[in-house]
Amino acid sequence: EPLCRSGVWRFHELLPFADPEKVVTIGEGQTPLMASEGVGSFVGMKPGQLFLEYEGMNPSGSFKDNGMTAAFTHAHTIGAKRAACASTGNTSASLALYCCVSKLMQAVIFIGSGKISYGKLSQALDYGALTIQIAGDFDDAMQRVREISSRLGIYLVNSVNPFRLEGQKTIMFRVLESLNWEVPDWIVVPGGNLGNSSSFAKAFHELKELGLVDRIPRLAIINAKGADTLYELVENRGLRWNQGKPNSEVMDTYYAELDAAHLRADTIASAIEINRPVNLFKCLRGLECMDGVVREVTDQQILDAKAQVGMSGLGCEPASAASVAGAKMLREEGIIDPSERVVCILTGHQLKDPTATVAYHTSDQKEFDRVLGSRGVSRAAFANR
Ligand code: F0G
Repeated sequence: EPLCRSGVWRFHELLPFADPEKVVTIGEGQTPLMASEGVGSFVGMKPGQLFLEYEGMNPSGSFKDNGMTAAFTHAHTIGAKRAACASTGNTSASLALYCCVSKLMQAVIFIGSGKISYGKLSQALDYGALTIQIAGDFDDAMQRVREISSRLGIYLVNSVNPFRLEGQKTIMFRVLESLNWEVPDWIVVPGGNLGNSSSFAKAFHELKELGLVDRIPRLAIINAKGADTLYELVENRGLRWNQGKPNSEVMDTYYAELDAAHLRADTIASAIEINRPVNLFKCLRGLECMDGVVREVTDQQILDAKAQVGMSGLGCEPASAASVAGAKMLREEGIIDPSERVVCILTGHQLKDPTATVAYHTSDQKEFDRVLGSRGVSRAAFANR
């Protein structure tokens, strides 16, 4: 039966908002959890303690399909005919694919100018989505799509949509299933719009309430330096959920500073090149629930970690490798212990964003300079290959 072929909907009892008859699935969530000795030793873990959850295996090549099937199912249930998103590329690829395969809706996509990798853009175009490039970056595109979709009654599938987050909870269900329901010590995830981190916390909160787990792992959210709002606010300025009363003036002040300085997000990890994460408050609640920490990693740390992930046989895109780079940082700080069990989420497939990969590995200086020249990156870590 089709629900069983989905790594999301075989948990439909834990997603009770959806009528099983209305579920729109394209076989998402068939993703492996793999132990990696190479990445484990790079991070500094004892053998067998580092796991990679490979969300690149999804039909559109990223974790987004977990959430898209849920949002899309809801959209279908309420009879939506058009669905929209702003995207750094993966949400749009996923939406375009669900629209194309199901033929239930038209996809309308907003992207920032020059900000999206060709791999991801080509998915949206091939799947036939109406693709609109706006002057500005993701944060601008996000604001525009929120206005336009509410004005025109278009169904919005960005992770402000709560059903997206319901679907993404299943990433944690599958991690637990693969570990025979033994709760790991750490979940490490890249942070962009902060949908994943929020949904992971909700997943564990609910599983604990249901008595299906006896404890909750710690959460590490990894920002890219240059797109580090969460890190700055939580680790440097003391923004907290505080059981329902976030000290949000800290956030208002920071955003006013960003505006005054005309500061734009900038990182090689284009998927998470975001300065105004829409799920910031949900994520604060998640950090409280999972005793979480936030770190930021440089382009260099991301690319070195990505090359190491590649050696494990599971290629990922730059944003995904932030999780591994962040785990290494927390291990070096002594916050993660080498004998703990760590799960890093690899959010997107290697083929999504090959430009940075080629530039990092090539001996063609021109190509290196074109892509990475302004980023203070060197290939030192892998020069001996
Ligand atoms: N990793 C990848 C590969 C992503 O595409 C994204 C987000 C994230 C991590 C961050 O996840 O938002 O849950 O914190 N990509 C969005 C997009 C913004 O438009 O595709 P998050």
